[in-house]
Amino acid sequence: IFLVLRGLYLLGAFRQQRPGEPPLDKGPIPWLGHVLECRRNTHKFLERMRKKHGDVFTIQLGGFYFTFLQDPLSFGVFAQESREKLDYVKFAKQMVRQVFSFSDISDDLKSLQVASTKHLKGEGLKVLNEAISSNLQNVMLHKLGSDSDRMSWNEDSLIMYSYNVVFRAGYLTLFGNEPPSEGGEEEAKAKDRVESQDLFFEFRKYNRLVPDLARGTSSLSQRWEAERLKAHFWKALSVQKMKTKENISRWVWDLKQAKEENGMEESMIDRYMFVLLWASQTNTGPTSFWVLLFLMKHPDAMAAVKQEVDDVLRQSGQSVQPGGPLVDLTSEMLLKTPILDSIVMETLRLTVALFYFRDVKEDMTVNMADGRQYSIRKGDRISVFPYSALHIDPEIHPDPQSFKYNRFLNPDGTRKTDFYKGGTKLKFATMPWGAGVSMCPGRFFAVNELKQFAFLMLVYFEFELKNPDEEIPQIDHGRLGAGAMQPTRDVPFRYRFRY
Ligand code: HEM
Repeated sequence: IFLVLRGLYLLGAFRQQRPGEPPLDKGPIPWLGHVLECRRNTHKFLERMRKKHGDVFTIQLGGFYFTFLQDPLSFGVFAQESREKLDYVKFAKQMVRQVFSFSDISDDLKSLQVASTKHLKGEGLKVLNEAISSNLQNVMLHKLGSDSDRMSWNEDSLIMYSYNVVFRAGYLTLFGNEPPSEGGEEEAKAKDRVESQDLFFEFRKYNRLVPDLARGTSSLSQRWEAERLKAHFWKALSVQKMKTKENISRWVWDLKQAKEENGMEESMIDRYMFVLLWASQTNTGPTSFWVLLFLMKHPDAMAAVKQEVDDVLRQSGQSVQPGGPLVDLTSEMLLKTPILDSIVMETLRLTVALFYFRDVKEDMTVNMADGRQYSIRKGDRISVFPYSALHIDPEIHPDPQSFKYNRFLNPDGTRKTDFYKGGTKLKFATMPWGAGVSMCPGRFFAVNELKQFAFLMLVYFEFELKNPDEEIPQIDHGRLGAGAMQPTRDVPFRYRFRY
């Protein structure tokens, strides 16, 4: 009897909403709860729950009780509570163990914060900006072949093109270049291109396996494939391999050193390098696809941003000429592009849909911005899905499904930061980077990467959709909640040199 009762307890049969708790919806299947519907389309499911229960509700998902706080004015609770009450580390550790076979017994969170503050912001970011500019140009310009190909159109698929260029340049910038040997600089650059190309194809294969690996639903053949790919990445990014590279970013280098000083085995550091590669590359490539696609679908946006980058280039005293020097895209130039900033923010608003949660470590009371209070139980999870609650709320962002290139611009052309809900100014108008202690440490670099890619595309190339009536593809709902959205199909486009 005890075992039966215990089983029923675990399946959630006895859980009832207590006074002071949010509405409870256990879902149609014992223990699994709403997992199937939520996985099919997270946004649609959460909207259904919000209509039924209001903006705070507790639902059962795979044996856990998640309380969703879908009032964007109350997101502060989620971001500011201490780690003693709301923890993200336990889950994050479990995920990296499950997906990347990486574990760090030292509970070292500090080294990532220290290295990121030093090297992914401020002066450190300037160094990375220079490196990515040159790596982008190595990968992008080479793709066009010889001078005789200059004026002919090149056809490509947009996701493969954008993801490929941004991944390879990002990888080379963070993990370093091949040093010049007797073959000189050109040969070293060619080696960079070959090596990064190989890594890109393997990365895409691994990325496709990640949702199932994270959910623990991968088949035997998927697990085999994952083992093969992990071994490939551990070798390609290994500490030993690093010794043969130059221009390794200080971010990667300091993190390697910190793990060594903490006594981590070298083979585990190799695995950590793959975690860093994945965190730094999984969202940027898909986002770069959407940036270009929105530009090609919106001629007003394309014209405005083209004018802006041309002006910035001219004011810097540079111009693009056949056979001329590469563009020196400096950090100062990137500070003079409010239209491009707005385009990147608008793209992130529409295409980054992450589902954030924390483990509740002790019974607690959540205070909502409007004074409501809710009791939350120890062992449950608190969650937010800003895509539904913030990014596409029509009160905050009117006509929310449309791409408006100037949504984040004031009428005088400066950056717009004031967005309101119920007359109250929001702290964040979008939340693509998460919030609080676990907020993405690479966000400034990511924005610069996207801006540099778009800037260089605009100054070097004309680009257009092969079919001008091309519809924006559907997003892959199977990945919704896991990061930058991916399209369900590719889009053919063409590009050629402007000069
Ligand atoms: C469009 C591009 C990107 C997006 C949308 C993005 C978004 C995010 C989000 C939402 C998180 C988790 C926040 C949370 O759980 O609360 C995260 C974590 C992280 N991101 Fe990014 N990211 C991007 C690019 C980058 C880049 C370029 C880097 C590195 C150079 C980077 C490094 C990291 C790292 C290391 C973490 C883990 C942080 C931790 O465990 O505390 N990301 N990112």
